[in-house]
Amino acid sequence: MLEQLKELAQVAEAEIKAVGTLDELNDLRVKYLGKKGPIQEVMKNMKSLTPEARKHAGQISNEVKRTLSDAITVQKEALELAEITKQLAEETIDVTLPGKKTMRGRLHPLNAIVADIEAFFIGLGYHIAEGAEVESDRYNFELLNLPQDHPARDMQDSFYIDVHHLLRTHTSPIQVRTLEKACGQGPVKILCPGKVYRRDDDDATHSHQFMQIEGLVVDTHITMADLKGTLEALVKHLFGPEREIRMRPSFFPFTEPSVEVDVSCFACGGDGCSVCKQTGWIEILGAGMVHPNVLKMSGFDPEMYQGFAFGMGVERITMLKYGVEDIRHFYTNDLRFLEQFK
Ligand code: DAH
Repeated sequence: MLEQLKELAQVAEAEIKAVGTLDELNDLRVKYLGKKGPIQEVMKNMKSLTPEARKHAGQISNEVKRTLSDAITVQKEALELAEITKQLAEETIDVTLPGKKTMRGRLHPLNAIVADIEAFFIGLGYHIAEGAEVESDRYNFELLNLPQDHPARDMQDSFYIDVHHLLRTHTSPIQVRTLEKACGQGPVKILCPGKVYRRDDDDATHSHQFMQIEGLVVDTHITMADLKGTLEALVKHLFGPEREIRMRPSFFPFTEPSVEVDVSCFACGGDGCSVCKQTGWIEILGAGMVHPNVLKMSGFDPEMYQGFAFGMGVERITMLKYGVEDIRHFYTNDLRFLEQFK
């Protein structure tokens, strides 16, 4: 019987040492040390022994149990250690690996120019004012001194929504709306960026929808010198400190006098080149002194208040600044184009 126990112990120990997982080890523990295990079986037969032999057999079987349970403990620790080591190896992070590149967005070139011009004028104490893209003909034309039968009204081929409403053809109606809200009290200093619409056929320099920025200052003692100084500062900000401006007489119904403003060519410095069509000057915006009729219709006393206004095309400025040849590039969202504006 004792031989049987010793043999059993040897076989069990070998099996315990060979086991590869904690689950299998637990199965072996139940198999050999459980209540229905072989050791218990052997012990059941001890009743037939003499007291002396039974005592001896009891000692041996306890020894075997202890040996096996020690072997199980040792193997358990070994397996647990192996598992943790494996897990650590698998979950190691190589902090020296290069990171994944994230794509950063940026402002669309038109919005970037608008933001830049806004920041410039905010620095001069202007407020940003916006208006609706659907306007009444009253605000888009009439209150800007273009009565129903005024020839300039034919000049603007517009998208009408009904008899009296249209997509605004310029940002100038914001002038009127802002002046009305001021209830005849100056000063008013606003910059108005926004989309405008005209019934143009799209080509390299025309688009049925584009952006304008309008400026308006109304106060007492405002003169054309204020207009000139302001635009000169803007042009130097946009195109470089060497730039100069030139004003040519022009006509807009809402300003009197009206001017067309040119900037000295930034490509050739004024000598004449293909950018300025050999003239040394590039036209960039329209401006003038606010017409007394406009002031009067918006509730301002033209005897007391004067003002200047200007309006420019954002696409045109951006095309000039960056040498873009086709206005349609701004609207097609081709990343090869957009990514050049860092
Ligand atoms: N509204 C004009 C246009 O659509 C631009 C303009 C010219 C605005 C002169 C002004 C101005 O405020 O004084 O072309």
